[in-house]
Amino acid sequence: MKPPAEFRTPRLRLRRPVADDAPAIFESYARDPEVTRFVSWSVHPNGGVTRKFIEDYCLAGWARGEVFSWLITLAEGDHVAGMIDLRPVAARAEVGYVLARSCWGRGLATEAARVVVDWAIAQPDVHRVWAVADLENVASQRVLEKAGMVREGVLRRWMLVPSQGKVPRDVWCFARVKEGNGGR
Ligand SMILES: CC(C)(COP(=O)(O)OP(=O)(O)OC[C@H]1O[C@@H](n2cnc3c(N)ncnc32)[C@H](O)[C@@H]1OP(=O)(O)O)[C@@H](O)C(=O)NCCC(=O)NCCS
Repeated sequence: MKPPAEFRTPRLRLRRPVADDAPAIFESYARDPEVTRFVSWSVHPNGGVTRKFIEDYCLAGWARGEVFSWLITLAEGDHVAGMIDLRPVAARAEVGYVLARSCWGRGLATEAARVVVDWAIAQPDVHRVWAVADLENVASQRVLEKAGMVREGVLRRWMLVPSQGKVPRDVWCFARVKEGNGGR
């Protein structure tokens, strides 16, 4: 898979993150407990942890071709709005995203998810684009539906969410698959 370094939508620019994005990412969402309420990572205690995350996960992921992360920025001003990533394995690609609280409720996660999911399912070697969302994370479930995914079922005890304790959480599994009609 060879994803583009950048996607553009009417309101967003998705681009590869760099280590110097750490302070803006930390300030805008990585230190916010509301943002980490249903995700698999813990709130970052300082900007150094954010920088290490960019280096060890985002940059290493692109270098190895295993995880592709894009910083979600507002098209006007390059303001950091969040992050979205794509993790291809065999003929599947999993998508995940997070948005700064100041950007919620404006359809921006849907705009970012659509462009990435549309691109991924159009790749010849990808037959399934999928994602999970905590049973209580209704906003994320809506985003996945609006990105053209179908709610397939519940994966029980699937995701460890540090802010919710040590027992893995049940999640909804969503997917868009390539069928006879070539897409959704
Ligand atoms: C989930 C998240 C990405 C949504 O971002 P967003 O930009 O606000 O999403 P959108 O505006 O594109 O769409 C949200 C949809 O959920 C709906 N929604 C929001 N909160 C809701 C709630 N509590 N109950 C029901 N629906 C809700 C909105 O009305 C909208 O649907 P609509 O267009 O049909 O009205 C954002 O809240 C976030 O980053 N949360 C923290 C990280 C996270 O949970 N990431 C996903 C992990 S799976």
